[in-house]
Amino acid sequence: MEKLVVTGPTRLEGEVTISGAKNAAVAILPATLLIDGTCTIENLPNISDIKISCEILEKLGAKIDWIDEHTITIDTRNISTTKAPLDLTSKFRASYYLIGAMLGRMGEIEVGMPGGCKLGARPIDQHIKGFEILGANVSLEKGTIYAKADKLEGSSIYMDIVSVGATINVMLAAVLANGTTIIENAAKEPHIVDVANFLNTMGANIRGAGTDVIKIKGVEKLHGNSTYSVVPDQIEAGTFMLAALATKGDITLKNCITEHLDSIIAKIKEVGGHVEDYGDSIRVWCDKRPKKATIKTLPYPGFPTDLQPQMGVVLSLADGTSVINESIWESRFQYTEELNRMGARITAQGKTAFFEGVESLHGAPVYSTDLRAGAALVIAGTAANGETDIYNIEHIDRGYENIEGKFKNLGANIKRVRE
Ligand code: UD1
Repeated sequence: MEKLVVTGPTRLEGEVTISGAKNAAVAILPATLLIDGTCTIENLPNISDIKISCEILEKLGAKIDWIDEHTITIDTRNISTTKAPLDLTSKFRASYYLIGAMLGRMGEIEVGMPGGCKLGARPIDQHIKGFEILGANVSLEKGTIYAKADKLEGSSIYMDIVSVGATINVMLAAVLANGTTIIENAAKEPHIVDVANFLNTMGANIRGAGTDVIKIKGVEKLHGNSTYSVVPDQIEAGTFMLAALATKGDITLKNCITEHLDSIIAKIKEVGGHVEDYGDSIRVWCDKRPKKATIKTLPYPGFPTDLQPQMGVVLSLADGTSVINESIWESRFQYTEELNRMGARITAQGKTAFFEGVESLHGAPVYSTDLRAGAALVIAGTAANGETDIYNIEHIDRGYENIEGKFKNLGANIKRVRE
């Protein structure tokens, strides 16, 4: 078992390069199943979710060559089975993208219910509704999803809920369908645009990604033979921006798209942080205690739920009492108990948490309850007085490339220890 040991307090200073977006990459990899050929994908984050995604694709018959630790060439011409390996698909959430991609490519898929962070109920009814409207039969037996279709037929789908996963999944299924599919009330996250751009580069015809109406004209085949670079990770960028705030630091982020960060920049300024925006890099610094704030998480372009715990650390240290309303996941406040062990004063009730700001946090043994909670604890440990031991760090490794290396480069006293 490994843990991270962080000794603070440290004011984080310097430059950090943002990796490719996890949530785009975990969709782009299954999307390669729609290609009858070979393609190269660059700027993949070096994280465990990507390694598992590649293993799953190999088990289905894809051939993957690693050019370097962020680049693969993938040949999906010889897909040989429609049964996804249950032991691997249960390890992360995005395995649900195999359904849309394999329905499009093979007309059939058998896959276990997806795993991933335990953030409360994570239904996939909107995904299934979309596949059924396109003509698939979908059934669920003993935790396994069976989906089958002779030929998918384009149609109009109105999403009852704004869902990142359902939007991408239905988009994947529609790319090779007969006719045109229209997704209304679609999610608008940057990684949805990135998946659409990837598919269009390979020959798909998708318009409107990034707005709430996406139109997909089915094409005969995707040609491959192209190279695509994954978009920078908006959530990793936000994590370091909030780390600058929590440690009264000064961090410049390289390789990010700052227009994806508007809601975060707005909140950073509201609590007294400073931002210099250079388009593909951004400097964030803070020279005094952050001010209190009220936050509600929302689908993009609202404040992202995946930055809520990291913002929670900032507000734990803010002057005054702050409120966060979590509107996406019912169990996203588990991290607050861990921060309270470090001296924070947070009361979470249902979807709302109250943060009575304290002057400082102190080190403690804490448990990473999910991916973003883990990142929040790394920030808290860096800001806190004394030693913080962070356990269950496999959650963090699922989504952050070399988190201790990046924090260390910014001055943090952090090490990975095997017990
Ligand atoms: C994705 C992200 C995750 C992020 C979340 C919200 C990936 C791999 N994960 O998760 O990091 O926290 O978006 O930004 O990209 N819902 C339904 N029925 C459905 C689908 C969703 O009721 O069929 C509900 C969910 O319970 C949740 C809300 O819709 O309350 C949003 O979920 P969704 O956008 O689908 O999240 P994921 O795609 O699972």
